[in-house]
Amino acid sequence: MTAPPTAEEIRDVNTRYHDGAAAHYDAKWGINWGEVGAHQVLLKTRKALGGAPPRFARSLEIGAGTGYFSLHLLKAGIVEAATCTDISPVMLETLEANAAELGLSVETVACDAEQLPLAPGSFELVMGHAVLHHLPDLARAFREFERVLTPGGTVFFAGEPSRTGDRIASVPKRAASCMAPAWRRALRAREAPAGHTDGGERNHQLEASVDVHAFVPDDLVGFARDAGLEDVRVRGEELLANWFGWANRALESTAEPEDVPWLWRQYAFRGYLALQQLDSRLLEKRLPPALFYNLMVSARKAG
Ligand SMILES: C[S@@+](CC[C@H](N)C(=O)[O-])C[C@H]1O[C@@H](n2cnc3c(N)ncnc32)[C@H](O)[C@@H]1O
Repeated sequence: MTAPPTAEEIRDVNTRYHDGAAAHYDAKWGINWGEVGAHQVLLKTRKALGGAPPRFARSLEIGAGTGYFSLHLLKAGIVEAATCTDISPVMLETLEANAAELGLSVETVACDAEQLPLAPGSFELVMGHAVLHHLPDLARAFREFERVLTPGGTVFFAGEPSRTGDRIASVPKRAASCMAPAWRRALRAREAPAGHTDGGERNHQLEASVDVHAFVPDDLVGFARDAGLEDVRVRGEELLANWFGWANRALESTAEPEDVPWLWRQYAFRGYLALQQLDSRLLEKRLPPALFYNLMVSARKAG
C-alpha cells in the first residue's frame, strides 16, 4: 500500500499541474470574458450570497487561476479593488494578461491559501471558485480567510465538488467515454492525444493527484464555524446541467478541438444553459444540497 501524499506533496503537485495547464485553461473550461461569462459569475455569486451582492471595496480571491471570478466582479463594479492569489505563478501570469486585455487592474500574489502574506482585517470579501478541494489543510485555510477579513466581512466559495454529486456524475462521464469512438466517427473528428488540453501527457498524469477532497455540506459548515465565522450557509448548484456538461466534455476531450463542429458546440452550450435554468428554478430549491454536483458556502465575520 502506498502512503497518502503529504500536504507538501499536494501543494507541489498543484503548483506543477496548474503551471503546466495555465496556457490551455480558459479554452479547456470554456471560460468566457464577455456577457456569457459575466452572467455565470454573477449568477453564482448571487446564489452563494443568497441575494444581490453589495459593493465590496476590497476583495481577495483564493486560487484565482486565470481570473474568472475577480475580473468579472471587477468589471461588473461589484468589487472596487481586487487582490488575486494562487499557488501557481503561471496561472497568475495568465490572469495578468487577461486583466490587461480587459483593461482592468489587479494585484496578484503567488502564495499558498493556508499562509497568506497579507495583513489581518484587510478585505471586505474573501472568495474563491473551485479551489477548496485542492487544499490539504482546510481548517488552517479557513482560519487564514477569517484573519484577513474585516469585521463584518463576507466569505464565499462556489464550485466545490460534492461527494454524492461527484459519484452520480461519474455515470454519465463513464458512459460518454465508452461512446467516444462512435461519437467521433459520427462527427468525422480525429482522435486527440491524451492530455492535449492539460499541457501535455506528463502534465495530464498529474491531474489525478490535484483533487484531494469532495465534500458533504456539513464539512464546509464545520470548517467555517470552527474558524469563528457566523451565518454559515451551504447550498447545492447544478444537477442535470452537470450530467449533461460532463458527458459532453468527456466526449469533446477525446477529439481534436478544430474537428468539433460549430453545431455540436451550440447544442452543448445551449443545452447546458437550458438545464442550468431548470436546476436553478426547480431542483435547487427542492432537493438537498448533497445531491448536486457543486456546493457553495458563504459566511460572515462577526463585527
Ligand atoms: C480548478 S482551478 C480554479 C481556478 C479559478 N478559481 C477558476 O474558477 O477558474 C484551482 C486553482 O487553485 C489553485 N491552487 C491549488 N492549490 C492551491 C493552494 N494550496 N493555494 C492557493 N491556490 C491553490 C490552482 O493553482 C488553480 O489555479
